Amino acid sequence: MTEKRENWGSRFGFLMAAAGSAVGLGNIWRFPYLTGMNGGAAFIFIYLGCVALIGLCIMTAEFAVGRRSGLAAVGAYKKVSDKWTFAGALGVLSGFFIMGFYPVVGGWAMAYIAKSFTGLLAAPEAIGDAFGAFITAPVEPLVWMVIYLVINVLIVAKGIQSGIEAAGKVMMPMLYVILAAIIFRTASLPGASEGFKFLFTPDFSKVTGQTFLAALGQAFFSLSLGMGCMITYGSYLNKEEKLPQNALIVTTMDTSVALLAAVAIFPALASFGVEPTAGPGLVFVVVPQIFAQMGGVVGPIFSALFFLLLFIAALTSSVSLLEVVVAYLIDQHRMERKKAVYITSAIMAVMCVLSSLSMGVMSGVQIFGVGFFDFFDILTDKIFLAIGGGLLAICVGFFMKKEDLKDELTNGGTISFPAFELWYNLTKYVIPVVIAWIAFAGITAIAQKGLMIFGVLVIVVLAVFSKKL
Ligand code: PHE
Repeated sequence: MTEKRENWGSRFGFLMAAAGSAVGLGNIWRFPYLTGMNGGAAFIFIYLGCVALIGLCIMTAEFAVGRRSGLAAVGAYKKVSDKWTFAGALGVLSGFFIMGFYPVVGGWAMAYIAKSFTGLLAAPEAIGDAFGAFITAPVEPLVWMVIYLVINVLIVAKGIQSGIEAAGKVMMPMLYVILAAIIFRTASLPGASEGFKFLFTPDFSKVTGQTFLAALGQAFFSLSLGMGCMITYGSYLNKEEKLPQNALIVTTMDTSVALLAAVAIFPALASFGVEPTAGPGLVFVVVPQIFAQMGGVVGPIFSALFFLLLFIAALTSSVSLLEVVVAYLIDQHRMERKKAVYITSAIMAVMCVLSSLSMGVMSGVQIFGVGFFDFFDILTDKIFLAIGGGLLAICVGFFMKKEDLKDELTNGGTISFPAFELWYNLTKYVIPVVIAWIAFAGITAIAQKGLMIFGVLVIVVLAVFSKKL
């Protein structure tokens, strides 16, 4: 390697960037509605189990693989063996596909910051219809999506320290402050205690095999695992950083934001008599309704703050998704950063246009029975991430040397990692089995069988043709 590879400037900067990647739409939009639909506290309980047992181990493993190789996903796997290149390629592809819909939702969040002040809250009964009309319109959501994507491009084009790290250092503390302000306001609403009761009294009668699936899938998505993102971020870490400790901090930060988002939303729902099982529309339809009922100037301000929170959370995540692809092009193809960013984001923009239009004018265009938006979403969230995580666990457990892993996780024996054996055995034996079970249950449960088979075929094709990547 001729020129020096970039590194994080400080430990705090790395933590903000990694937590920024993890904390995203998954925490603030998805987690609350999944909790609502899956029995409240019971789901939270199972989710926490998945995070502690599987998420934490995989994150530790991704950091170790990334720092050991000093390369992004594809290069890191390739170092283990050419045969493994496909697992990295699958990660890059997942990054592309998630970026095929994520900026669309990021754009919605931006639009709703503005809409909070321009009459959205004036007619609470029309908020649902207004959302439907907005996302199905051909032009307005596209404009916001493009603005959102341009901000992504500007951050990633500046590189690791002055781009991604700088953005994380400003935005993540902001995110916590806004979240605290919103919780403070919603928790003191009359009747809020009903919501707390729902959140903290488990109803295990609602738990089925599907609940476990939902919780596990959510853990992967929310922690940014299974697609090489934390491998890439780990590759910019210096040799002094303690990997297990950092994995624990990032996991805790991500999980706490998910829980806090639920705490911010549920008491308010109960207070205004809204059903917690509202589903994916929860954030964009129900949250403005909550703030509309608050009235005055306070309502719009809190509504705007909420969507600013969603926007910040989404932005620091999509930046990491873009970086996964960009870092691959830089590492494996010696491409210049800016060029890699422009080419990659141009392709993502086209995918996002298709996703956005699939909500309205292009809703008739279907692949395997779903529109573009759902195609990118289901393919990654339900198939690629879980399989990607399973592949990583197998690669680490069976194809890397145990001494090397121990060396990496203890910084050459200079720090102790007492849970090493536990981590190693969980990663090697338990996690692949659990993920295989999820994949099997997924194939039998999912409605879009064609899409599932297509996803598996994509992985097989990658496995055969990816050696040159
Ligand atoms: N973790 C992000 C979220 O919760 C999404 C994400 C997935 C980001 C995979 C990077 C990699 O929204």
